[in-house]
Amino acid sequence: MSLAVHIRQHGGPEVLELVDVPVGEPGPGQVRIRHHAIGLNFIDVYHRSGLYPLTLPSGIGMEGAGVIEAVGEGVAHLQVGDRAAYASAPPGSYCAVRVMPAACVCKLPDAISFETGAAMMLKGLTAQYLLLKTRPVEGLQPGDHVLFHAAAGGVGLIACQWARALGLQLIATAGSEEKCQLALANGAAHAINYRMEDFVARVREITGGQGVKVVYDSVGQDTWDKSLDCLRPFGLMASFGNASGPVPAFSPALLGAKGSLYVTRQTLFTHIGERQATQAMADALFDVVASGQVKIHIAQRYPLQQVQQAHRDLEARQTTGSTILTL
Ligand SMILES: NC(=O)c1ccc[n+]([C@@H]2O[C@H](COP(=O)([O-])OP(=O)(O)OC[C@H]3O[C@@H](n4cnc5c(N)ncnc54)[C@H](OP(=O)(O)O)[C@@H]3O)[C@@H](O)[C@H]2O)c1
Repeated sequence: MSLAVHIRQHGGPEVLELVDVPVGEPGPGQVRIRHHAIGLNFIDVYHRSGLYPLTLPSGIGMEGAGVIEAVGEGVAHLQVGDRAAYASAPPGSYCAVRVMPAACVCKLPDAISFETGAAMMLKGLTAQYLLLKTRPVEGLQPGDHVLFHAAAGGVGLIACQWARALGLQLIATAGSEEKCQLALANGAAHAINYRMEDFVARVREITGGQGVKVVYDSVGQDTWDKSLDCLRPFGLMASFGNASGPVPAFSPALLGAKGSLYVTRQTLFTHIGERQATQAMADALFDVVASGQVKIHIAQRYPLQQVQQAHRDLEARQTTGSTILTL
């Protein structure tokens, strides 16, 4: 049996229920992993609320780290006793032990702790594919400006540091003065408190009127329109989340009028659809973390039993960096 968090219906944090569930043996292509730490992500809020509907009842949580307890037939890259970490579907990482698909589970280098592993896999792989694989047609060169919203959050603080390592001038937005300072301390070249300042005007000022080559936008509804106004001609609007609500429908003609812009809506789960691609992305993440170029900030820890409070704080914009659930 395992302690786990399940939802029987979509709704607020109160639908997150602690339950005891049976855990069996792994089938072909699966492993059983005993968690040492679990990562909290904004996608868990979408799963809980029903913005991304689940078949109910369901487990919840997409990120964790622990020790492999059993390995199913056909799994060659993991052995019993391995330290491992993952970002992976299906939801269900909020638990002590689970059986899950092995494809996205990666061996964790000895130099990286379980807590760091749980705090970085989903967020770090996302920062990786955004900065290295989600690029404008004109490419990105050192010195180029990009705009990154919610830059003091989990994905954001990793992106600030990784962008600095790539030589990019990342313009951060964040919802308070303290969060702006945090983004700057982590490598952002500029920071804008978008609750107080007009970020379009500030971006134009910082870039000498030119605009940025890419906007990485996970805020969605509240920032979409203004984000388009921050782009230079042929710029890329890289939408990857909806923390403030989904992006409303828009006319493609708008993209022409604003400078022949490109729009993409990316999700990590396309990028980690194949085991080899997932491992290559994870290796790149392990390298930047092991080298110290990217530090994983775990700013909040909650016992699994306090998962409802963890969700409340994340949604209320009370958190910075990564949050983990402890066992
Ligand atoms: N597509 C993908 O592959 C992918 C993968 C991972 C994450 N994501 C997305 O990336 C974003 C960041 O994820 P995360 O887990 O690291 O979360 P996070 O950034 O730690 O938390 C979300 C942040 O969004 C900002 N925000 C702006 N408006 C908000 C609102 N109305 N309600 C709540 N928050 C608001 C807040 O920062 P401020 O107070 O500074 O505004 C908040 O701290 C999320 O939108 C997530 O869905 C997408």
